Amino acid sequence: MKKIGVLTGGGDCPGLNATIRAVVRKGIIDYSYKMYGILEGWKGLIDGNIKELDMNSTSGILHRGGTIIGTSRTNPFGKDNKGDPERILENIKKLNLHAIVSIGGEDTQGAAFKLSEMGVHVVGVPKTIDNDLPGTDYTFGFDTAVNIAMEAIDRLHTTAESHNRVMVVEVMGRHTGWIATFAGIAGGADIILIPEKPVDMDEVYETIRKRHKRGRNFSIVVVSEGIKLPVEGNEESGFVLQSTKKDAFGHVMLGGVGSIIAKMIEEGTGFETRCTVLGHTQRGGSPTAFDRVLGTRFGIAAMELIHKGESGKIVVLKGNKIIPIELKEVLGHYKTVDDYWYDLAKVFSV
Ligand code: F6P
Repeated sequence: MKKIGVLTGGGDCPGLNATIRAVVRKGIIDYSYKMYGILEGWKGLIDGNIKELDMNSTSGILHRGGTIIGTSRTNPFGKDNKGDPERILENIKKLNLHAIVSIGGEDTQGAAFKLSEMGVHVVGVPKTIDNDLPGTDYTFGFDTAVNIAMEAIDRLHTTAESHNRVMVVEVMGRHTGWIATFAGIAGGADIILIPEKPVDMDEVYETIRKRHKRGRNFSIVVVSEGIKLPVEGNEESGFVLQSTKKDAFGHVMLGGVGSIIAKMIEEGTGFETRCTVLGHTQRGGSPTAFDRVLGTRFGIAAMELIHKGESGKIVVLKGNKIIPIELKEVLGHYKTVDDYWYDLAKVFSV
C-alpha cells in the first residue's frame, strides 16, 4: 500500500478541510493508498511528524474553517533552516512517503518546487484568501473572505448613513487588492484603494465632497492593508506596519493603514470618519459553497496527478476547468488586479 502525505502551509483559509477531505477520500477509495496528514506544513516533514487520515477522521470537516492538520510559515529553504531540505528528504524516506500534496500559496509552493527538483514526488494545490497566485483564475479561500468583507460593508453602510459618517474598512491583501476590489464592488463601496494603484488622497477627498454635495452624507472607503503611503517612519518599505519583525519568508506584518487613511479623510474633508479593521475574521469560519466545491475539485485533481506519477505540477482553475501546470509558473510574481476590474469599480466611485 503506497503512503501519500498531505500538508497545508502558510496562512490558513476556509476550504482547506474540504480539500484535505477530497485528497484523502480520493486516495483511499479510488487508489487504495494509505493517507497521512503532515502536521503544520513543511515543519511536519522537518520533524517527521505525521498522522494517518482515514474516512472517519476526514468526516464532518467539509464545512469547517481552518485546517485539521495545522499550518505554519516554516520555510525549509530559509537562511535559518540550514540542513532542513536534507532532513525532509531523510524523513520522506524513513516514513516511506511515496508522494506529497502541498496545499498553499506562493511560499509553500516555492518550497514544493525546490523539493521536486531534489527528486520529491510532489503536486501543489493553490490556496490563499489574497487570490494573488498566478496561473489560476481563483484560489479557494478568496470567495469566503470576500463574502465576509461584503457583509461587513453592508453592516457599515447602515451605521454610516445614520451618523453621516465616512467609514473606512481595512481588508487583507498583502501584495494585491483582489479582496478590496471584489468586496468593494459587491458591497457598493464608494472608494477602493489597492496596492496596484498609487493613492491620490486629493481625489479621495474630492469624491467624498462631491457625494456630500449631492446629498449622500456618508461614504464607504475600502482599503487593502498592502497600499503604500508616505507616512513618517515607514519611508523604507512604504507600507504601514504592525511590526517590522519578518516571518520565515521575509514578510513584515502589515496592518494599520486604515486608521491613517481615516484620520487623513477627517482632516482633509472635515467629515467625521471611523475605521474598521477586518483582519483575521476574513480567514476564519465556514467556507462558502464556491470554496468548498473549488477545494474539492482541486483535491481530486491533485490525487489524479499523483496517481499518474506526475510531479512538480500544480492544479489550477482556468475558466471552468481544472488543469495541471508547472509549479514554477506560479512562482516569482503575483497575479495583480488588472484594469478591467479597476475600471469597473471606478464607475461607482462618484
Ligand atoms: O497571505 C494571506 C494573508 O492573509 C495576508 O493577506 C496577510 O497579510 C497575512 O496573510 C497575515 O498573516 P498572519 O497569519 O501571519 O498574520
